[in-house]
Amino acid sequence: MAEIPLLEIKDLRMSYATERGLVRAVDGVDLEVRRNEALVVLGESGCGKSSLAKVLLRILPRNARAPNGQVRLDGINVLAFPEERFRHEIRWVRIALVMQAAMNALNPVVRVGEQVAEPLRVHHGWSKRRANRRAAEAFEEVGIAADFLQRYPHELSGGMRQRAVLAMALIAEPDLVILDEPTSALDVLTQASIMNVLKRIKRERGTSFVLITHDVATSSELADRVALMYAGQVVEEADAEVFFGHPAHPYSQMLMASVPRLHQREKPAAIPGRPPSLLEPPPGCRFAARCPQRSPSCDSAPEVIELVDRHRVRCRLHTRGGTG
Ligand SMILES: Nc1ncnc2c1ncn2[C@@H]1O[C@H](COP(=O)(O)OP(=O)(O)OP(=O)(O)O)[C@@H](O)[C@H]1O
Ligand SMILES: [Mg+2]
Repeated sequence: MAEIPLLEIKDLRMSYATERGLVRAVDGVDLEVRRNEALVVLGESGCGKSSLAKVLLRILPRNARAPNGQVRLDGINVLAFPEERFRHEIRWVRIALVMQAAMNALNPVVRVGEQVAEPLRVHHGWSKRRANRRAAEAFEEVGIAADFLQRYPHELSGGMRQRAVLAMALIAEPDLVILDEPTSALDVLTQASIMNVLKRIKRERGTSFVLITHDVATSSELADRVALMYAGQVVEEADAEVFFGHPAHPYSQMLMASVPRLHQREKPAAIPGRPPSLLEPPPGCRFAARCPQRSPSCDSAPEVIELVDRHRVRCRLHTRGGTG
């Protein structure tokens, strides 16, 4: 029997109400993450990555419409849970999130230790002593000496603050940690050491990760799986070696060709053009306007095709079991 994935997202949709209409930020996303697996989610700015993370944690802004679809955790659709149950059983406990720019959102007047322990105390009623003890452990896990718990955010370097927000996400020992651009504001050495922390936690705890990033090179170290988003949808989902080595979607191919390589003289070409508006995305393939391989059939929306086990692509080139 096929393994039930830790996380299985089925036809997930969420829009924001704006003065100009509905912004379809997450528009039919299917994804899965198994235990002890790291899924890297790539995609240009505005394609819906952070919105997807927020739907999974159900921490949406006021103008977000209620999401549709399914978010199954060990086979159970937690999207259908009432808020109270979701807060008790899922958020921070089983799925935790390091939000985009979280390291700059720490409260400047509260010691980091208190901020790290807060989810356990506020949401789970842990005593101060127990929460502080666990906070100290979480700090050590991410490579910060426990006495840093007494410091204020401004007394920590950027890398230390990022580790602190990671400790915050790890504190209740969740099964899945979602990280939204965790290293984009950091220098390369600090990025590398944070990636090493994630790799170690994955190895030692068996934690699963969803890592949202623009940074193909850094993320490739942790990735078991890769999903590429475009205009609110996933266009390709594959094992990391397959995605990095032989991507199937023209957009994935162009993205991989645009990653700078060592020993390459010319700067790689950027992908010309811009993604479509999410207010009224085109009815056909959303990438067609920028696709060198488009054909008249791309005027109607491509379905997701499973090429081989766990390699899915949303592209007309692959409709009849071909590999393009
Ligand atoms: N609160 C909101 N109200 C209206 N539109 C929003 C809101 N938040 C995000 N959007 C829009 O939803 C779309 C997806 O945004 P999102 O932040 O999820 O993208 P992203 O992939 O995370 O981008 P980035 O890489 O820049 O972080 C964008 O068009 C964005 O402008
Ligand atoms: Mg984002």
